[in-house]
Amino acid sequence: AARQRYAERLLAWFDVSGRHGLPWQHPRTPYRVWLSEIMLQQTQVRTVVPYFERFVAALPELPALAAAPLDDVLALWSGLGYYARARNLHATARLCVERHGGELPRDLDALTALPGIGRSTAAAILSQAWNDRHAILDGNVKRVLARYHGVDGWPGLPAVEKRLWALADAHAAHAPAARMADYTQAQMDLGATLCTRADPACVLCPLQDDCVARREGRVAELPTPKPG
Ligand code: ADE
Ligand code: SF4
Repeated sequence: AARQRYAERLLAWFDVSGRHGLPWQHPRTPYRVWLSEIMLQQTQVRTVVPYFERFVAALPELPALAAAPLDDVLALWSGLGYYARARNLHATARLCVERHGGELPRDLDALTALPGIGRSTAAAILSQAWNDRHAILDGNVKRVLARYHGVDGWPGLPAVEKRLWALADAHAAHAPAARMADYTQAQMDLGATLCTRADPACVLCPLQDDCVARREGRVAELPTPKPG
């Protein structure tokens, strides 16, 4: 029952308090979702928004990105940092033209085979672009799940990460099929706005009744920091 409540309560909170006006949500195409996820890997939403808008104004679809010179792509990325992301973006666009008819593949393994797309990013793309059922596990979601379930151990350890993926999968299995995009965004929004690293707002949290860390007074200790 607590499993069911996680998705239900998260979505009810998201409808009222989540982020609904982000530019990659309107329209929510696979290309725009992918671009936003790559930009958001190491950069905060408020910084990404103007870069995203400038980028899609210049290169509105994947074939345009594939055809653009790398220098143009790097110029559009200029200021965002972590330029390997821009190089991988460009390489991935060209591979999609070669292998996938100029579109992003709607398949987890095919996506993770592309440069710059790990498992969680692939899952975030598929769930947001097509409402496909995939769990995500980025830094925000690791923190929420470690607290909600009281999972000890640094999430960088393979055994801990494996446990968190299993919990993420179990919750995703109970989310409504038509709302996988919202479910993915809701988790990111909860981690970014309420269940923050330094100052979580548990009194406002839709998950507070079932949260192990809150019940046991261990919110400040979880997730366990990197040892050493
Ligand atoms: N970080 C990664 N993806 C994100 C998204 N869709 N919204 C907010 N933060 C994110
Ligand atoms: Fe995070 Fe607090 Fe919500 Fe638990 S109750 S999930 S620690 S914000």
